[in-house]
Amino acid sequence: MKTHYLIVLLLVFAACNTKPKKQDTPKEAQPAEKEMKAVSVTKEPFGTLPDGEEVERYTLTNANGLEMKVMTYGGIITSLQTPDKDGKKGDIVLGFDTLEGYLQDVPYFGALIGRYGNRIANGKFKLDGKEYTLAKNDGPNHLHGGKKGFDKVLWTASETRSEDGPALKLQYHSKDMEEGYPGNLDVTVVYTLTDNDELRVDYSASTDKKTVLNLTQHTYFNLSPESETILDEELKLNADTFLPVNTTLIPTGKPEKVEGTPFDFRQPKTIGKDIGAKNKQLEFGKGYDHCWILNGKDGEMKPAATLYDPNSGRVMEITTTEPAIQFYSGNFLDGSLVGKSDKKYVFRSGLCLETQHYPDAPNQPGFPSTVLNPGEEYHTTTIFKFTVK
Ligand code: BGC
Repeated sequence: MKTHYLIVLLLVFAACNTKPKKQDTPKEAQPAEKEMKAVSVTKEPFGTLPDGEEVERYTLTNANGLEMKVMTYGGIITSLQTPDKDGKKGDIVLGFDTLEGYLQDVPYFGALIGRYGNRIANGKFKLDGKEYTLAKNDGPNHLHGGKKGFDKVLWTASETRSEDGPALKLQYHSKDMEEGYPGNLDVTVVYTLTDNDELRVDYSASTDKKTVLNLTQHTYFNLSPESETILDEELKLNADTFLPVNTTLIPTGKPEKVEGTPFDFRQPKTIGKDIGAKNKQLEFGKGYDHCWILNGKDGEMKPAATLYDPNSGRVMEITTTEPAIQFYSGNFLDGSLVGKSDKKYVFRSGLCLETQHYPDAPNQPGFPSTVLNPGEEYHTTTIFKFTVK
């Protein structure tokens, strides 16, 4: 009896001991499993620029069928298909069917922004006592990198291997004094469409001369492609303060508490709720066009924004290492641009949530620095996660 008992015990022990090995097996099987799903990166020609350069468009598809199209011109995201609460896919970004659409006077649809996201006052800044002059392409100010910013250049694209999902690496060499900025700058942006239904954007850069840099992404979202505007979508921002601006949308330099103002998005509320309130700041921006200072540490991953569309059930959560987010409610769209599926892009038909450093930081010593020195590596990450509820 005793020997039997011992044998049973030994067998149980042996069985328990083999368990971890069994758990290992699915991990080993993963690559084969992944190959069976439709994860892919494909490439197609997308037209020719006026100077004869060829533009390509890449399609990234993740394991769950999320699909994103990106072109080499401007690193522009031309479409992003995600499912709604009933599993029906829809394109949640504004844009055009053809390259020609993007070559009109388009306000940065889907594009990578550089060298400097948002405005630099009077198109001027100083570094070590030397003044640099930039294009004034927005009234008296410089906006989004100038006349030919990173949104209008051709990026070199290559597929990269990522454990997390299909990825596309975009690279651009910006020459010393390009658009007035000092330093030869090498920029890399990697878009990964993870199998966790996230779009991860990793930015990195290095320079050979002291310069300023503030990269971001300028996609206009509308989580309800059928809806005319984004006013019924609910937004939550992880920010106790924002940056008030002057009449030309340059921050005054003094952050203000959002509490008790239309700028309070600490609890989710529809964008339409307070956008029409009588408020000087809303008047200056013609709606929301401001920078919110994120709670949490600069350089560490933290929640930035959550956008929820009750109509489709789509949710987009943004996390970032950046210290701030520019929320622009599409106030300058006026119906003159006609996009995909012949949709007229009317007033507030899309919104931008641009993670970044503060506007005009090169002129405002109180703001976190945007200076990049030779030998330093610029690196920021922003993740857009797509779910439904
Ligand atoms: C700015 C707006 C500007 C828009 C251009 C946003 O990032 O904050 O003021 O009009 O970009 O599309």
